[in-house]
Amino acid sequence: MSAGKFINFEGIDGAGKSTHIAYVAGWLRARGHTVITTREPGGTSLGEKLRELLLHEKMHLETETLLMFAARREHLAQVIEPALARGDWVISDRFTDASFAYQGGGRKLDLRKLIALEQWVHPHLQPDLTLLFDVPLEVARGRLEATRSPDKFEQEKAEFFAATRAAYLRRAEEFPDRFRIIDSTQTIKDIEISLDKVLSTI
Ligand code: TMP
Repeated sequence: MSAGKFINFEGIDGAGKSTHIAYVAGWLRARGHTVITTREPGGTSLGEKLRELLLHEKMHLETETLLMFAARREHLAQVIEPALARGDWVISDRFTDASFAYQGGGRKLDLRKLIALEQWVHPHLQPDLTLLFDVPLEVARGRLEATRSPDKFEQEKAEFFAATRAAYLRRAEEFPDRFRIIDSTQTIKDIEISLDKVLSTI
């Protein structure tokens, strides 16, 4: 059985990442892979309940961070690890990089706490490929305003998203082997061409 790989999609709210999940899943399926698509916070019955709380309840920053990682622990145990063990490919709409970007960058949680949680929850697993959809803040905000009613994170101010985006870009510098930055100001067609190039290298 060929080994499946783990891909996470990242970017600030409004970066447009979710639009491209079906495209990447389709690209992989067309090449004979079994692919599951999932998301964080969420991906399990418990995780989806935690998502509701995380996106709509005000809470202490450390509570928020611990719940993100609690949902992730369940997601790994129930969905991600069994799928990879079967040889399936996993595409997750966000993973731990989002905690470093949002709780670490946006909300300024001490990075040592995030590193400790990452070590606890998945000491031996990292995504094989991280697609970071990057856009200037104004573009992301424009896209958000055009959509649904904003959740707790989407209501944050521009400085929050500037810090979140900067934290994503720092993380991409720290892990250049797995991160690929997609310029998300491009048209959907051009983004698909960029994705084709990245996917043909993994
Ligand atoms: P989504 O809107 O892309 O589905 O993501 C839900 C929100 O949760 C998004 O605003 C980012 C936030 N989030 C964190 O703050 N930390 C995390 O670890 C994850 C996975 C998501």
